[in-house]
Amino acid sequence: MLKGLTAKSLSRTLLSTALTGAMLASGWAVAADEPGKALAAKAGVPWPAVIAHRGASFNAPEETVPSYTLARELGADYLEMDIQRTRDGVLIALHDDTLERTTNIAGVYPTRTKDPVSSFTLEELKRLDAGSWFNKAHADRARASYAGLKILTLDEVIDIAEGGKNKPGLYIETKVPAQFPGIEEDLRRKLEQRGWLSQRPEADKGYVNVAHTPGRVVLQTFEKPSLELLHKAMPHTPKVLLLWLGDGSIQAASDQTFKDSGAKDKASFYATQQVKSKEEFAAWMDWAKAHGAIGTGPASALRNGGDQSYMDLVQPWMNKMAHDRGLIVHPYTVDDAVDFKEIGSHGVDGFFTNRASELLKFYGRPSKESMDSILKRIGY
Ligand code: G3P
Ligand code: CA
Repeated sequence: MLKGLTAKSLSRTLLSTALTGAMLASGWAVAADEPGKALAAKAGVPWPAVIAHRGASFNAPEETVPSYTLARELGADYLEMDIQRTRDGVLIALHDDTLERTTNIAGVYPTRTKDPVSSFTLEELKRLDAGSWFNKAHADRARASYAGLKILTLDEVIDIAEGGKNKPGLYIETKVPAQFPGIEEDLRRKLEQRGWLSQRPEADKGYVNVAHTPGRVVLQTFEKPSLELLHKAMPHTPKVLLLWLGDGSIQAASDQTFKDSGAKDKASFYATQQVKSKEEFAAWMDWAKAHGAIGTGPASALRNGGDQSYMDLVQPWMNKMAHDRGLIVHPYTVDDAVDFKEIGSHGVDGFFTNRASELLKFYGRPSKESMDSILKRIGY
C-alpha cells in the first residue's frame, strides 16, 4: 500500500490514468496502455510517428529539395522516400518507375517517355525538370520557384536530413526492388558511408532528434524477398513490411478486378475489398515478424475517397493482431484530420502523410512557423 493514498483515492488515480491518458482539442486521445507505444519505444521509433511521405509533398513537388526541407523545418519525424538506381549505379529518390508524371521527359527525351528510370544515367535525369508538373497539377499551391527542380540522389536527401536544427530520420522504401538486384546492399553501403548505421550526434534541445536514436533509419518494402535482403544486410535497422491486398500481396476474398466491378472509381472499388480470412492476415503478420520486421505499413481507406484511398487494412482486429505479435502499425497515406481521428482510434502508431503540418497539429505539436514563412526562408 502506498503511503498517503487512501484506497479510494488510489483507485480513482489508477482508473483515471488507465482511461484517459490525454485528450487533445484535435480529438486525438491517448490511452495510457497504448500497446504500440511500448513496442515503438522498444524499436527506438518515435510514437506516434509523423512520416513525411515523399517530403511535405502536398505543398511542394514530391521528393525534391523544397519538399524535404519543408518537412524537416515543420518538425516531421521522418523524411520518407522511394529508392531506385540509375543506369550508372547511383541511388536516387523517385516514386514512379517512369518519368512521365513528375517530369518534362516528353520535351527532353520524346522517344523515351515510357522507359524505366533504371535506363537513365544520373546526368540524364538531372537534365529533367521535376517541379513544373506540380504547378500545373496544383495551381492553388504553385510557386514559380518550383519550376526546374531536380530529381535528388539519396546523398542529397541525406544532406537535407542533416542540414537543419531539426534532425529527422530516414524512412526508406526499396521501390520495385526486383528491377534493381543488389539494391539492398547498395543501400547498406551508402548508409554506412554516411554514418547512418551508427549513433549520430544529438540535436539541440527542443528540436527533432530522431536521427540520434536507434530508429534513425526505417527500411520499408512491399516485397518479401527485399525485406529478407534488407534484414540480411542491416539486421539491426528497423524494418517495416508494407501491406496491400491482391497482386501477390495479402489474398483478397474476391478476385474480381476493378474493370469487372463496375465501380465508379478505384477508391470505391478498393473500399469493397476484404481480406480472404483472418488466418490469411495472421499469416502475413507472422511472416513479417519472423523475417525481421518491427512493424507493418498497411493501406487504408479514407473517408472522402480520392486516389490515395485504398482497402481498409487498419481495422481494429488487424492492428491488434499486429500488436499482439510485437509489430507497430504505420498506415499510408493519410492527410485529413477526419481520417487521423477515425483511423487513429483503431489503434495505429503514426501515419505516412503528405501533410506533415496537419498531422503535427493533430498530435498537438504544430510548427511554430507558418508554411509560407518556411518556404520563403528556405528560398522558395
Ligand atoms: O511507403 C509507404 C507508401 O509510400 C507506399 O505507397 O506508393 O506511395 O510508395 P507509395
Ligand atoms: Ca513509399
